[in-house]
Amino acid sequence: MSSLQDIQACVFDAYGTLFDVSSPMQRRRAKIGPEADKLNTLWRQKQLEYSGLRSLMGAHADFWQVTAEALDYAMAACNLKSPALRAELMELYLAILPYAETVETVTKLKAAKKRTAILSNGSLTMLTSAVNHSRLTPHLDAVLTVDDIGIYKPHPRVYQMAVDRLDVQPEQVLFVSSNAWDVAGAAHFGFQVAWCNRMGNPPEKLPGKPVAEIKSLDEVLGLLGV
Ligand code: LAC
Repeated sequence: MSSLQDIQACVFDAYGTLFDVSSPMQRRRAKIGPEADKLNTLWRQKQLEYSGLRSLMGAHADFWQVTAEALDYAMAACNLKSPALRAELMELYLAILPYAETVETVTKLKAAKKRTAILSNGSLTMLTSAVNHSRLTPHLDAVLTVDDIGIYKPHPRVYQMAVDRLDVQPEQVLFVSSNAWDVAGAAHFGFQVAWCNRMGNPPEKLPGKPVAEIKSLDEVLGLLGV
């Protein structure tokens, strides 16, 4: 039996997978100036570094604080000092834009009677805002945030939340993420994983391999025969 024939739930990573983390910068590119791409790269890099390091240190802070502190580092590294720009970029993170195929893909999965959920390092406030802005709310059975357990992905306790909340076995979950480290963590935990490798990156040298590599979320529909 194909490993995807008994999928009961599709669980999505949020930032970078359903939502485009470059959209806040893109919407203020002119105001940021020539350092816009460097700012965007450093902001995301430090957001992920700080969340992982805080979990290793046992010093949890929510993703909103981590995202703000990562932005502070990135702005300092780019010699950008405007508090107004900082406030605008953080506000735009709450209204982060979905990828073009996000809403249609999740809608079609829900219509095909698959349970759908987000499983994210994002805080509940951030995720609720992003889901509402993108009009995904009616198409999601659950929005799962690490706020509830105080530790970040790729710790297995994060992925266990989806098993517990959706009442499924790990192998009955198709987890979709664009973040290869998240793909490794989810596969190592026991999910069936599709890596949405939009950038054509090489695979990570980590335990836990995806069962499928896709370029766009809508390919999940074909994987599940929806
Ligand atoms: C998320 C980030 C880490 O968990 O992509 O949504």
